[in-house]
Amino acid sequence: MEAIPKLGIGIGLRTTHFSELLERSAQVDWFEAVSENFMMDGGRPLHVLDHVRRDAPVVLHGVSLSIGTTDPLDETYLTRLATLARRFEPEWISDHLCWTGAKHHNLHDLLPLPWTEEVLTHVAERVARVQDVLGRRLVLENVSSYFTFSHSTMSEAEFLSALVERADCDILLDVNNVYVSAFNHGFDARAYIDTMPRDRVVQLHLAGHSDMGTHLLDTHDAPVCPEVWDLYRYTIRRLGRVPTLIEWDGNVPPLATLEDEVSRARLICDEVDAETRTKNGGARVGRTFAA
Ligand SMILES: [Fe+2]
Repeated sequence: MEAIPKLGIGIGLRTTHFSELLERSAQVDWFEAVSENFMMDGGRPLHVLDHVRRDAPVVLHGVSLSIGTTDPLDETYLTRLATLARRFEPEWISDHLCWTGAKHHNLHDLLPLPWTEEVLTHVAERVARVQDVLGRRLVLENVSSYFTFSHSTMSEAEFLSALVERADCDILLDVNNVYVSAFNHGFDARAYIDTMPRDRVVQLHLAGHSDMGTHLLDTHDAPVCPEVWDLYRYTIRRLGRVPTLIEWDGNVPPLATLEDEVSRARLICDEVDAETRTKNGGARVGRTFAA
């Protein structure tokens, strides 16, 4: 198993911050770029990505792969993604464990799958093809969900764990999505985290959501709530200091607000490190992250 790069805490690269990022270095460790927003031949987004890439690592995070659909994989999209990756050399490339439409109709949503053996085989075969084109492992993220399929034969966490072994891919664990889905479906968020294979989780997401009264909605337009910070602390205790990204996509606040969220995540990682050292009599144990 290769060591996961020790990236620290990053933020999403958003147009709202482009001017400021060209003027000053953000107090963050790395950036996540939404792949589709940079699939172009030139222009300001690529200029800004070039600029931040000079000083900081980047990862690519897609929303259009639709790894679970029954439509054929979009080979044109994969070729463009591979071209983008060659140019920016991201630490890894991620997308979502979901489907976004069928029969060439795009539903513009990240939808959950039935968690069955048949779907597991289907998704694993498609992941293999994607990894062949990209020449590297794909990283898949758990989505927030609002419905489930009655014919599922395993939990989402069990499916994700089985998939990464079957397809030899990795996991982007969105801690907020676990919290939102756990509330919506009544499962135990900590048990989900406990199911995650420690050596396959290469990145975490943190984000804000909205309480709609009857359910939680994954809106990415608010600060991370206290309960999700608590679940993050639990996750870091369980999985180690996994590279973490603050996702904020709606009502995007000033860069300084995101830097505050990054500081808070760093503090939690430091506190967990200190706890671990105390518990182990000063010796640092656990997972290895490459500098
Ligand atoms: Fe996410």
